[in-house]
Amino acid sequence: MARKSRRIRVAAFGGPERLTLVEEPEPEPALGEVRVRSLAVGVGYPDLLIREGTYPGGPTPPFTPGYDLVGTVDKLGAGVAGFAPGETVAAITVFGGYADLVCVPAEHLAPVPAGVDPAEAVCLALNYITAYQMLVRVAHARPGARVLVHGAAGGVGSAALEVARPARLAAYGTATGAGLDVVANLGAAPIDYQSEHVTARVRELTGGDGVDIVLDGIGGATSLRSYRALAPRGQLILYGHYSTLVAGRRSTTRLAAFYAAGALALAANALPGGRRVRTYRSAITRDLHPDWYRHDLSVLFRLHADGHLHPIVAARLPLTQARQAHELLAGGEVHGKIVLMP
Ligand SMILES: NC(=O)c1ccc[n+]([C@@H]2O[C@H](COP(=O)([O-])OP(=O)(O)OC[C@H]3O[C@@H](n4cnc5c(N)ncnc54)[C@H](OP(=O)(O)O)[C@@H]3O)[C@@H](O)[C@H]2O)c1
Repeated sequence: MARKSRRIRVAAFGGPERLTLVEEPEPEPALGEVRVRSLAVGVGYPDLLIREGTYPGGPTPPFTPGYDLVGTVDKLGAGVAGFAPGETVAAITVFGGYADLVCVPAEHLAPVPAGVDPAEAVCLALNYITAYQMLVRVAHARPGARVLVHGAAGGVGSAALEVARPARLAAYGTATGAGLDVVANLGAAPIDYQSEHVTARVRELTGGDGVDIVLDGIGGATSLRSYRALAPRGQLILYGHYSTLVAGRRSTTRLAAFYAAGALALAANALPGGRRVRTYRSAITRDLHPDWYRHDLSVLFRLHADGHLHPIVAARLPLTQARQAHELLAGGEVHGKIVLMP
């Protein structure tokens, strides 16, 4: 009888109740693919957007969510060389990761050094890569640059504060409640996005100048505040659609506001003052620059080994609790990253 493996399946766009566990025959790697046995699978906001159907270019049901994973090489497809069974690897998959076994194109895999906790490694595989590539590859941040990070106690946000520290950037992070302590502990100046006027506070903290870089994964009204927080020749990087969901569910009003504000922010590229508004997507960067992922992840693992990075694993849950993981993330106040450990 064919051996079975488990995966989470979404049969139709909708809420966390759409995540159901199915058992199927083990998938076979196709030409150029490697079958990976999952050790740690990231749960991040993009997974909620994909589940709700608001993620641009996301899959249509039925599909398995799962944007990023760390696992061991299990079986090589035809034409694959350079991987040994048992070797630990990481990948950005965009979807498909919530499973025991995942078939991944070999060119998307990057090695994970022996001995690294898989849950911490998967934080590096997406959140730290996103933060690092925005700061280094897109913004070309120099020591001393001032950077405002929104959602700074969350998955990507906390990673950005950690990457900023060894790069000697001056960081400011928006959060609320207990997240403000998380931001302060990561060496940044906390700003309460609920009780403070974020732009005015940024101006106050920077002696009226504004910041050189803003990382904005929230969008909508936040993008306009982000632009106003920029110093002349500052750069705003838009990288997420967080504000299109309310309590983790799709909001048509918020979607409209998101695209209107995004268009306005991008149109500001035509204004004088040299401020720049750009967008960033890790999966697009992976496809445009296939060598960057391996290189940048090796830089991050080196920083991790040297004690500069301490990924915050908010919760480790079994694959069977994918639904609870989504509910937890939608509820807010998750600091760091939730990880499924199949
Ligand atoms: N471009 C890419 O390649 C890429 C990769 C990964 C993620 N993303 C995007 O990045 C964003 C964050 O993802 P994530 O996984 O890090 O999510 P997350 O862990 O849920 O973090 C988001 C954080 O934002 C905070 N927040 C909510 N509303 C805010 C507001 N108005 N102002 C400032 N902060 C606010 C939340 O804090 P509280 O709930 O505690 O208030 C939470 O800590 C999402 O839009 C995601 O799609 C993009």
